[in-house]
Amino acid sequence: MRKKVDFLVIGSGIAGLSFALKVADYGKVCIITKSSAEEGSTKYAQGGIAAVMYTPDTYEKHIKDTMIAGDELSDEKIVRITITESTERVKELIEWGANFDKNASGKYDLAKEGGHSEFRVLHHKDNTGNEIERALLNSIASHPNIEILENHFTVDIITQHHLGIEVNRRTNDIRCFGAYVLNEATHEIDTYLSKVTLIATGGNGNVYNTTTNPAISTGDGIAMVYRAKGKVENMEFIQFHPTSLYNPNEKPAFLITEALRGAGAILKTYDGKEFMQKYDQRGSLASRDIVARAIDSEMKINGWDYVYLDARHLEKHKLIDHFPTIYAKCLSIGIDITRDMIPVVPAAHYNCGGIKVDEWGRSSILNLYASGESASTGLHGANRLASNSLLESLVFSNRASIDALKEVKNITYCKEIPDWNSEGMVMNEEMVLITQSLKELQLIMSNYVGIVRSNLRLKRAFDRLDILYKETEDLYDKSILTTKLCELRNLINIGYLIIKMAMERKESIGLHYSIDYPRNRD
Ligand code: FAD
Ligand code: SIN
Repeated sequence: MRKKVDFLVIGSGIAGLSFALKVADYGKVCIITKSSAEEGSTKYAQGGIAAVMYTPDTYEKHIKDTMIAGDELSDEKIVRITITESTERVKELIEWGANFDKNASGKYDLAKEGGHSEFRVLHHKDNTGNEIERALLNSIASHPNIEILENHFTVDIITQHHLGIEVNRRTNDIRCFGAYVLNEATHEIDTYLSKVTLIATGGNGNVYNTTTNPAISTGDGIAMVYRAKGKVENMEFIQFHPTSLYNPNEKPAFLITEALRGAGAILKTYDGKEFMQKYDQRGSLASRDIVARAIDSEMKINGWDYVYLDARHLEKHKLIDHFPTIYAKCLSIGIDITRDMIPVVPAAHYNCGGIKVDEWGRSSILNLYASGESASTGLHGANRLASNSLLESLVFSNRASIDALKEVKNITYCKEIPDWNSEGMVMNEEMVLITQSLKELQLIMSNYVGIVRSNLRLKRAFDRLDILYKETEDLYDKSILTTKLCELRNLINIGYLIIKMAMERKESIGLHYSIDYPRNRD
């Protein structure tokens, strides 16, 4: 099957959907999504979306908090753009139908999270992402120019490479002509030709053994762009959320939102003592890199499997009213958060790096934009400030739409693109070749490339990954493609990028902490 669309959007989370809504009045939009439309990290976002709404908060305060959280590695220009556009973007989201909680005086009930100096996080109870995704999908459904194709897996973006023309990473003339997409129902790989393509494929938490990310987060978009010789950066900055619920073997790990600490919950040791003041004067509300490392250190020194989050002193009805999802989830495994402490452990949560884009969401490949977690805008630097990612997605999808609408008139389809050739490929009959390699990859990454790293651990991970890489490429070259095989290949690619960039960074900064490079930036 061959199809032509003006705008090809890969991903149906906040980044893809908000971009689609902005361009749909000006051309045909096709959204490709590998699972059901609502599935993705967006749906699971708990804490909320950070934006400057009322005094005493100011753009300057939010900018300062973002720069501090990012360990001063964020691009200040991009931080300023994002924060100063926050109020307008959130208002637009509200116009699209998203409901955020209000207090008795009718103002938005703003929450606080780690690293924020003010209350500025808009939320819908503790299931904000679900509300945002609902509102966006609802608006999409009523737009005649937007089509969503579920259970369609994008294998690769199409560039000159597919016309037999060599491209390399140093040139600036690589061009995107669309994408090859595996239709799960027909098992065919179809050709989608587009004028503009947006990658909004989200994160890659599944490269680790324990993650808060849903199963779809396998870094596909980043791997595709890297294979197409586009620029990818900052992959060493993987954010581990300090508090996922300790419930061994549950995948994904259930998140205990940072907003609970914002509401007053306190981290305690296995034997019930506060410990965060030892690490940072902001205590349990220090920024995420610091809290996750402190928990990791307490667990390792003492041989504990988890620490506790104590919310027992908070007002019972307020606790249940603001955090109904967490209350119900914990209760389902026998923990009453109004009476019991919650066992928590850090889990891989967010990728601060990704496809390098400029202030208009343009990647290094022509006609290709990226937004959301798969993109690296420069906002997060070495560590993301909590609840800044939903905001970043809105701001950069909007900016990408403005640029794409200017450009699209001058772009024509490339008719010479060949269809996908599966000739001679055979069905891989042994799923174990994929599932076992995935487990190995996740263990290598968790054990050697986690919260605390060293040169030796990184080298060991690199060497182990090389074996998995060769075996998987070999399998890929002779197999009829399946989503699982492609995801494994992409995750290995992501693991390689994280390790390579971690090896190149010879300092400890933000989320990249190496015992070989004691911190010297303080
Ligand atoms: P996603 O919402 O993950 O969507 C990715 C989309 O791409 C999906 O539709 C997926 O199916 C599709 N896709 C992926 N690969 C392919 C492929 N090969 N082919 C076709 N489709 C593909 N951030 C905040 O700011 N505030 C919060 O409170 C917050 N809480 C969070 C809680 C949890 C549990 C998690 C996991 C994350 C949280 N985050 C939060 C982070 C935030 O939710 C994500 O960074 C953000 O939602 C990413 O949006 P996205 O549109 O980039 O990706
Ligand atoms: C949370 O609710 O703690 C997650 C917020 C985020 O990842 O930004």
